[in-house]
Amino acid sequence: MPVKIPLLLFFSSLFTTAEIHAEITFSEHIAPLVFENCSSCHRPGQAGPFSLTNYKEVRKRGRIMLEVMEDRFMPPWKPVPGHGVFANSKALSDEEISLFEKWVESDRPEGDPDKMPPFPDFPAGWQLGEPDIIVSMTEAFPVPADGRDIYRNFAIPLDLPEDKWVKAVELRPSERSVLHHVLFFLDESGRARELDGRDGKPGFSGMGFKRSGSLGSYIPGAEPLLLPGDLALPLKKGSDLVLATHFHPTGKAVAEKSTVGIYLADKPSSKTVIPMQVPPAFGAGMGIDIPAGDSKYRIEDSFTIPSDVEAIAVGGHAHYVCQEMRMTATLPDGVTKPLLYIDDWDLNWQGSYLFKEPVKLPKGTVLKTEIRYNNSSSNPRNPFSPPKRIRWGKESTDEMGSITLQVVAADESDAAMIVRSTRRKTGRNLLAQAAKKLDGRLNSAGQSDLTRSNVLRLLDKNRDGRIQESEASARLKESFSQVDKNKNGTLEEDELQPVVEFLKARRKR
Ligand code: HEC
Repeated sequence: MPVKIPLLLFFSSLFTTAEIHAEITFSEHIAPLVFENCSSCHRPGQAGPFSLTNYKEVRKRGRIMLEVMEDRFMPPWKPVPGHGVFANSKALSDEEISLFEKWVESDRPEGDPDKMPPFPDFPAGWQLGEPDIIVSMTEAFPVPADGRDIYRNFAIPLDLPEDKWVKAVELRPSERSVLHHVLFFLDESGRARELDGRDGKPGFSGMGFKRSGSLGSYIPGAEPLLLPGDLALPLKKGSDLVLATHFHPTGKAVAEKSTVGIYLADKPSSKTVIPMQVPPAFGAGMGIDIPAGDSKYRIEDSFTIPSDVEAIAVGGHAHYVCQEMRMTATLPDGVTKPLLYIDDWDLNWQGSYLFKEPVKLPKGTVLKTEIRYNNSSSNPRNPFSPPKRIRWGKESTDEMGSITLQVVAADESDAAMIVRSTRRKTGRNLLAQAAKKLDGRLNSAGQSDLTRSNVLRLLDKNRDGRIQESEASARLKESFSQVDKNKNGTLEEDELQPVVEFLKARRKR
């Protein structure tokens, strides 16, 4: 009697396993999974390098498909599950991956084709429908067959007679394969328009204009995000759209002419969407300086939220040698919430992740970002072989690092104060960096007494008793207006106390 039961269980479990294997067919189980998660990019004319649209194509690539699913390389979705809950998540569940695995292991049966779902009706034109404004690059930009990646900006006049509010921006490339990503900036000054075409080719290189705003970005394969609820981004009349484009040559010379669709809200945003970047200025104030071969270089920064907010989206930015980034929120009651964790950063898949539910972060919450870089040869994405010292900079082979949380104030009347507080944080970071540089110069000038008059004497090259912006170090220039308390455009001796304080604080550390 006692023997019989396990035996029965043994047979019945064998039977169930066999039954499950027999049941997994392309038509019934695999087609829905692939159509839903892979085919949007893996079909003719899209970003994926081959099509995955029918039994034959999927059967042929079953093994490699399983590998990229298990590695979580495909579908492209960088946030590690369990750190932030996102509305636009593309991550496959463990169950889906194991279903695919069983199908691959069981000889990939087709099953009854009549049971197959119809191939999805992927939008052929604009994914979000007909845009309110359609503009395109004035001229196509020639991308050579090979050579280094190209960063190029294109100014597109919008000539808007009045202020507008933007819900989403969708970009349609003419040569999708060469586009790695495009950032949508705004320029109210007309400077970008002036720079465009100056070197005889469409567009311009470098960031020689002051960005007056941003409308998000285009990442290959990612669908355009509509801002939730009645939120929208401001688009001031007279602004030009600037496409900051990263091209990657693919072995074939092509010319890219992007078309951009802008979706407008019919009324102003109910709230101001406020970016909280930690560290600010893409890490410019962090003194990023990564020794060649260092696989564990870290930066860390934090920001205390000055008033109750709700976080709606999050996204990170870094270049090639970054490997890991994480943002957490520690609430005043001590509870720590994970907001974003990426453990395999890839410059080519920089998403923006929309929280499923707005994340409530009360006043006093500490946002903390930790970023790790691997500048050794063990990092396959290292642009240098052998590795070289890498510092903060704007070239793709330099580094940056920050995570941006998009928030709205719980009470909109606090919005301006929150924005000021994020600007002060930016100023503090840049000032700290300026102070670090100044400190070095003071030491080498042999003036070790940290006094306002010494700082003044060192910087005041034309000896007029004050510091003009042109006399300030590059970093001090960026926080110049913060230090210039009386807003007269120059720094007088009595305004230099914050600089002195920073120098002193630094020496103590
Ligand atoms: C958002 C667009 C997108 C989606 C969705 C997507 N892919 Fe891809 N896939 C790409 C692109 C682009 C590449 C080329 C990547 C590269 O070369 O870096 C690629 C490459 C691949 C490769 C080749 C990898 C290699 O090492 O050569 C495989 C296999 C693959 N995808 C399978 C899948 C599967 C399976 C899914 C669904 C579970 C999927 N992809 C979903 C865009 C996508």
